[in-house]
Amino acid sequence: MLNLEELMELHNAELIEFRRDLHENPELSFKEFNTSNKIKEKLQTLGIEIIDIGMETGVVGLLRGAKDGPTIALRGDIDALPIQELNDVPYKSKVDGVMHACGHDIHTTSVIGAAIILSNIKNELDGNVLFVFQPAEEINKGAKLMVEKGLFECVNADLIFGLHNNPEIPWGKIAIKKGGLMAAVDTIRIKVKGKGGHGAIPNATRDPIIAASAMLMNLQTIVSRNVSPLDSAVISVGTFHSGTANNVIPELVEITGTVRSFHPDVRELLPKRINEVLKYTAEAYMVDVELEYIFDLPAVFNDEELTKIAYEAAEEIVGLEGIVEPTPSMGGEDFSIFTEKVPGFFFWLGVGNKEKDMSYVWHNPKFDGDDRAIIYASTVMSNMVIKGIKYVGEKGGTIK
Ligand code: NI
Repeated sequence: MLNLEELMELHNAELIEFRRDLHENPELSFKEFNTSNKIKEKLQTLGIEIIDIGMETGVVGLLRGAKDGPTIALRGDIDALPIQELNDVPYKSKVDGVMHACGHDIHTTSVIGAAIILSNIKNELDGNVLFVFQPAEEINKGAKLMVEKGLFECVNADLIFGLHNNPEIPWGKIAIKKGGLMAAVDTIRIKVKGKGGHGAIPNATRDPIIAASAMLMNLQTIVSRNVSPLDSAVISVGTFHSGTANNVIPELVEITGTVRSFHPDVRELLPKRINEVLKYTAEAYMVDVELEYIFDLPAVFNDEELTKIAYEAAEEIVGLEGIVEPTPSMGGEDFSIFTEKVPGFFFWLGVGNKEKDMSYVWHNPKFDGDDRAIIYASTVMSNMVIKGIKYVGEKGGTIK
């Protein structure tokens, strides 16, 4: 059985060094060239086979166990954000305007840690481990591209496990929850077309600004009046552009927004109601409206059986007191693209440390996490692989 203290002694320093190097040298989505090379090098020193699925960035590695059997995938995302780091730490980003402000350096290193641990015990594994280092999570495109490139046709995975750090949870704690953990993410683009004219003669125009303002107010009633109070949803408008001069009524308003939900029924209801509210408000204000509704990501959803396996895997490593049940986030994660193909489980790793001022939220320029948490994630994920191989093996090889 894996022993956390022992593994910490052996690998903690190496993992922290690896993470801090990534933190100092962050790379934006689909530009993770050096990051990918560092990952490849590390995997190769561990004797892990690199599988080329035709991606420019991102890395896929396969560790074969002693016997052929189920294949369990571990996923870590690797990209950084266009944010100027404001932390004053020795491992501060050296790249102007780019920062690991979502802690994907921690995820990458957590999976590297699992690769180290599992390659050391590969003779005891009755199955294989697929390491998926995914690019471009921040723009919701990396997982989609990996699946399109045939990731799971190259290697057929039976289960996939993934993680995200959480600075609101103390470092080293493992946050496990059955059901929805991160929301479905959809995008709306709205065009409101009126008839422009002089600001002093509004009666000769069809003012799209007034119409669009009414639309935005009416959209807010969908969550409060159409979605059950026991379900969750968000409709937020992030951009509203129109006009060129103070005394001109313009022709056009362009709006974009984000729509979040958990339950599939709610996700189905929202576009229908948004469309109706826009259409009838447009009619009332005598303007035209166009809605583009883009389904970006499904929710990250943990099923009951895999949650049980993950819970057992974590409990063996950190004990009951090391596990917390988190409140879900309306933030999204493209891990859900993988779980459309392969059953999966997603957890949060506590990385918060108030004494070190590490409790800033994701995407804050002062975001940081306590990297002593990494070995916890690596060990727990390794144990999830061990339990996963056993579980799939007992089920007869494949579960879909
Ligand atoms: Ni993230």
